[in-house]
Order: sequence, then structure tokens, then C-alpha cells
Amino acid sequence: MTKHNTHRQPNRRQLIQTGLAGMAGVSMVGLAQQTIAQETTAQPSQPATNSVTRRDRFADKVVMITGATSGIGRAAAIAFAREGAKVGFCGRRANLGAEVEQQIRQSGGDATYIKADVTQPKEVASFVDRIVEKYGQLDVAFNNAGDVLTKPLHEITVEEWDRTQHTNLRGVFLAMKYQIPHLLKRGGTIVITASQHTVATRPGFAAYTAAKRALLGLAQVAALDYGRQGIRVNVLSPGITDTPLFQRTTGGNPEKVEASRQLVDALKRIATAEEIAEAALFLASNDCPYITGTSLLADGGMMSGL
Ligand SMILES: NC(=O)c1ccc[n+]([C@@H]2O[C@H](COP(=O)([O-])OP(=O)(O)OC[C@H]3O[C@@H](n4cnc5c(N)ncnc54)[C@H](OP(=O)(O)O)[C@@H]3O)[C@@H](O)[C@H]2O)c1
Repeated sequence: MTKHNTHRQPNRRQLIQTGLAGMAGVSMVGLAQQTIAQETTAQPSQPATNSVTRRDRFADKVVMITGATSGIGRAAAIAFAREGAKVGFCGRRANLGAEVEQQIRQSGGDATYIKADVTQPKEVASFVDRIVEKYGQLDVAFNNAGDVLTKPLHEITVEEWDRTQHTNLRGVFLAMKYQIPHLLKRGGTIVITASQHTVATRPGFAAYTAAKRALLGLAQVAALDYGRQGIRVNVLSPGITDTPLFQRTTGGNPEKVEASRQLVDALKRIATAEEIAEAALFLASNDCPYITGTSLLADGGMMSGL
């Protein structure tokens, strides 16, 4: 039975335009209290568990991931390794990189962390070269590194604009530039992490949305350029996901977290990093050989309610 609070309840568009969920850095006090009344007693959706049947879609494959020291990339590194891949990954925080590498190895997987900043051409080239040198080939690239900036456009400094474009867009271009010559040897797949902001965005996300939407164009042209040579290129557009990025933007404020959850109309919960990683594995795998040049929106139905 659903209990509705019909008085002064904001609709979804008002919620979104108010600045969602801490992801916009705007206080959601009050909104959460009003929307909590929509709570249902049923629990229609629970995060995926490890009860999923073990698969080996990536046995003998080499997978490269940018930004796997935390969040979605980290969950993907663990998931790819669990399915048999040799995983090469990067990020700037060497302590976290070593932790992820060790965790995978202790579980019987094979992973190599290389410290690299995706905005720096020499570091990206060296990351790609060292992984291919170590594992002898490249089959899958998950170009995931990114970071968010929330500010009204006129307050964004030129340095902040450039950093956001460089991290989210130039970083993917650089990774692909150095990965594609290796992928052309055997064919393969590229998955790029964009965002739900490619579909609908909110105030304060000018720099982030510009970068993430550009990734769609990049992926589509790359799909055309390399499709006949056996490379598929797709974008994964996650919805609100419980990662360190989300925790940074909400500041751990329970009301902002609750307001985020309420925005996800269909499932009424935010994603786990592991669930988004599963979508990346799907796009990277041979489970979808006819899917290329498109975006998979993994948003728990949030955009369906717009
Ligand atoms: N969480 C969400 O709600 C959400 C929603 C939609 C899309 N996304 C996207 O999902 C992707 C992963 O984010 P997340 O939520 O998992 O956040 P996260 O936990 O902060 O992870 C971001 C990853 O990117 C890496 N990174 C950032 N800048 C980098 C740089 N210059 N060079 C190398 N690595 C860099 C970070 O590593 P280091 O800091 O160690 O360098 C980290 O491993 C991002 O592209 C983000 O835009 C997230």
C-alpha cells in the first residue's frame, strides 16, 4: 500500500531543478522529508548479490581500466578479474591502486596497477604500453576515470573548466588513441563511462555535462571508424551511484542521500558500484555483439519518470 502525501509535495522535475541530491551541492533539507512520505512497504528491488552464477566471459582476455582505484572502476576491476580477465588499471592514488591489485590477487585473479593521470599523454601512453607489454595483448578498454564539478557557469574558472574537460573528455580521447592500435590487432570492445547527464541534466553541471555529452559523439564516431575492423564502442551512462564521488558530493548528509534515493522513480534506491560495473561487463562482453555506437542508461528508471 502506498501512502501519498498530496500536500506541497514537489514533483520530480522540481526536485531535479532544485539541484538534486547533493550531486548539485544544494541543500535538500525539507525536500527529503516531504518525499519520504512516498515510501512504500514493498521492497521491489534489492542490490545484486554475489549469488549470480559464476561466468568466465573474460577468460584469456586482457582488460584495461582507467580510474579503478575506487568506485565503479574498482568494482569493475574486481568483476572482470573474477570472470577470468587479466586486468591492467590506473589512477593517481598509488596506495589505493596497490590495495585493489592485492585484493584481486588474493582472490586468485591477475591484476596490475600502474600509476597514471589520464590527463597526461605520456602517462596514458606509458600505462597502455606497460600493460600490453606485460600481458601481450589488449581485448577490452573500460575508460571510466572522471570527476564532477558543480558550479553556476559564470563562476567556473578557466582552470576548473579545463580540468573537468581534461579529466572526463581528453582522458578518454588519450586512452583510446593509445589503446586502438592494440585493439585493431585482434578486435575488441571499448566502454566509456559517461553519465545520466547525457540524457537530462540539472543546474550547476555545465562543465560536467558538456564533457559527458561529448563522449557520446566520440563513441559514435569511433564505432563508425572501427566497426568493420572488429571494435565495438559504447557509452555506459550510470545514474546516481554510491561511490566516493557521490559521498564527496553529498558530504555524507543523510537528507541529501535520501533525496537522491527518492529521485530514482522506478527502483527508489541508488545504484551500487557493483551493479554499474555489471553493466560495463555486459557492454564489454560478447553477450551483445550487435550493440555499438550507443549508450546504455543504467539509472534505475530515474529518467523514465521525467
Ligand atoms: N557516482 C555517480 O553517481 C556517477 C554517476 C554517473 C557517472 N559517474 C561517472 O562514473 C565514473 C567513476 O566515478 P565514481 O562514481 O566511481 O567515482 P570515484 O570513486 O571518485 O572514482 C573515480 C575514479 O577516477 C579516477 N580518476 C579521476 N581523475 C583521474 C585522473 N586525472 N587520472 C586518473 N584517474 C582519475 C580516480 O582515481 P584517482 O583519484 O586515484 O586518480 C578514481 O579511481 C566517473 O567517470 C563519473 O563521472 C558517476
